[in-house]
Amino acid sequence: MLSDFPPRQLCCAVPAPAARSVLMTPESDFAAPLPTGALPTILLAPMEGLLDHMLRDTLTQVGGVDRCVSEFIRITDQLLPRRVFTRIVPELRTGSRTRAGVPVRPQLLGSDPACLADNAARLAELHPAGIDLNFGCPAKTVNRHRGGAVLLDEPTLVHDIVSAVRRAVPAAIPVSAKMRLGNEDRSRMLECASAVERAGASELVIHARTKRDGYKPPAYWDQIAVVRQAVRVPVVANGEVWTVADARRCLAESGCDSLMLGRGMVANPGLALALRAELTGTSAPALSWADLLVLMADFFLQVRAKVAARHQAGRLKQWLHYLRRHYPEAEEAYQRVRVINAADELSRQMFGDAIADELTARLVLIKAQMSPASPTAASAAHLPGGDPTSLIEPNAAPDEALTLTA
Ligand SMILES: Cc1cc2nc3c(=O)[nH]c(=O)nc-3n(C[C@H](O)[C@H](O)[C@H](O)COP(=O)(O)O)c2cc1C
Repeated sequence: MLSDFPPRQLCCAVPAPAARSVLMTPESDFAAPLPTGALPTILLAPMEGLLDHMLRDTLTQVGGVDRCVSEFIRITDQLLPRRVFTRIVPELRTGSRTRAGVPVRPQLLGSDPACLADNAARLAELHPAGIDLNFGCPAKTVNRHRGGAVLLDEPTLVHDIVSAVRRAVPAAIPVSAKMRLGNEDRSRMLECASAVERAGASELVIHARTKRDGYKPPAYWDQIAVVRQAVRVPVVANGEVWTVADARRCLAESGCDSLMLGRGMVANPGLALALRAELTGTSAPALSWADLLVLMADFFLQVRAKVAARHQAGRLKQWLHYLRRHYPEAEEAYQRVRVINAADELSRQMFGDAIADELTARLVLIKAQMSPASPTAASAAHLPGGDPTSLIEPNAAPDEALTLTA
């Protein structure tokens, strides 16, 4: 039973000496040469259906992430109302940043250059921290409509999309692209990368697999190096980085100085911080299971405030499922709660009665703030500091970090 997890302090984004560092695991003994020069830029990957604004908010509280890309916003033949952009990327209401202050770049997915350009122009009115374009989605429904990874068979269209979006938004807003190595094979990989570059993108993220490769390991980091040598646009390496050792190998094999982390960060939210610590020769604050419980409680409070009741338990269990890869305690918890579908019962099982009661009390407060009658309703979904959805003070100094004592 995890119900009696001890009062914890989580000092967000403030690396502190740790008694037991994840860097001490054998996997980090990998002896690849460290890349020289600046620390890598670390991006948090877009993951539709998994890494939405709530998990983005929680993961960026931990620290180590420089920038996020949102899950894709699908563009068909409509000019989307602003509220669609702010629903998927509510950070647009707070300077395009998470509560921890990390910039979020919304991602668009579509195949019609003109329509994407019109939507990008509207999105630009909301002052996003850039606009990313998706050329990697393998989903059949998306591909059937000529979106995502299938576009990698049409480098000219890739060029036209990036170019149209680039021209449609002010120069101060960066436009980037994310692609796989190809659709069925890699034969047009360089053509596509060069199309992205010629069209004026400022950055290219490469998920080092084709659509045909799916998510099956390995990721071909050496192929990212091939692209890097062919283009001048900064290239970000992505795919199959689960550990600090993977990250070092990926940086070494790709020659990149930027990484995008996806499932690895969901499984181990301390991964970005651990990597930074390794590359600077400092010690990383290990995120203990008790720290994780605080993060999960914070996340679940947001979920319960914003997600339909029937989906709430699933969201926490989905994250728990990923955490099993890094935390043995997550496996035990997952087995214990996987059949629970009621949010309150799940909360009690995961966090114990005292914390569950505190969460419920905060939920009541949030719901009151969100009700149409409340003067603060409009901003309740994304309040900076003092947000009752948070168990973690976003800007707390180390010794002020909130202690979960209930
Ligand atoms: C559930 C899920 C949803 C994803 N959604 C998106 C998306 O919306 N846009 C995108 O460009 N990539 C998406 N991806 C791909 C990831 O951004 C990333 O490229 C991929 O997971 C490989 O990186 P990783 O091994 O670090 O997870 C998704 C991946 C997963 C697993």
